Amino acid sequence: MTSESIPPESAAEAFGQLRAFSERIGPVYGTEDWAVFLYALVKMQAPLNVLELGTGLGVTALWVAQALKEIGAGKIWTIDNGQDWPEILGHSPELFTAGQRALDFAGYMADLIGQFGLENQLEFIGRAMPPYPAMEQKLDLLFSDFRHGPNDILAILGHFLPQMAASSSVFIDSASTSFPSYALLELLVPQLNAGKVPLMLLSVTPAEQQEALREQVRSSRYTLMHMVERKARVQNSTAWLKIEPVDLRPYPAAPFH
Ligand SMILES: C[S@@+](CC[C@H](N)C(=O)[O-])C[C@H]1O[C@@H](n2cnc3c(N)ncnc32)[C@H](O)[C@@H]1O
Repeated sequence: MTSESIPPESAAEAFGQLRAFSERIGPVYGTEDWAVFLYALVKMQAPLNVLELGTGLGVTALWVAQALKEIGAGKIWTIDNGQDWPEILGHSPELFTAGQRALDFAGYMADLIGQFGLENQLEFIGRAMPPYPAMEQKLDLLFSDFRHGPNDILAILGHFLPQMAASSSVFIDSASTSFPSYALLELLVPQLNAGKVPLMLLSVTPAEQQEALREQVRSSRYTLMHMVERKARVQNSTAWLKIEPVDLRPYPAAPFH
């Protein structure tokens, strides 16, 4: 660990340190508020298996990992090929410590994870996508934050929908404020809710996962929410696709009062 700091000793201390970190670093990718939203959601709903596509500078992954640490269970995997790291270091070196500036992207992530004491909750995977990974466990939360064109969204949903837990959420960054991506999701979700898998989605779903996708669509209801930030910057939105079993109650399931 190159950082001078020692891991926070309490949740309150971690919260303060994460706020300071993400106020400084978050604006690079515009995730300083989004990360706090996900932190709160993870604390409320305890999605224990979380996957992030596109680590950026680690802002969202750290907040999610801190929430998992506080609830005492769960893990987030975050994947990135580090392609943006040299350019960000070049134009904004003041954002990083001298020690971090000497590191490659994997080293930077290891430094952050150690600095915040999140080794048990956060795993960084340095690789390019596609191909997308097959996970060993069903995912409770997927945050895709590296490509948001209509074909990218179809490829990501075709690959990951069959890997989502019966009650889970998929978030796709920037999709709600790009008209073709917004329109694709608005066309797709009613078809899924009618129990149908459109051919364009089926054709990008791995053959061995197609039956799992059909079964999920038969037994699920999908809710699409466009979360748009009132901010004067581009890519200020996230599409939230919530998946729940067809039932007479909301999920995650809680006792009715
Ligand atoms: C918008 S940033 C992610 C921001 C991050 N989720 C956050 O919370 O701050 C997108 C990231 O995707 C990575 N990326 C872009 N194309 C990629 C690819 N084909 N494979 C893996 N990572 C990629 C970039 O290196 C960049 O770090």
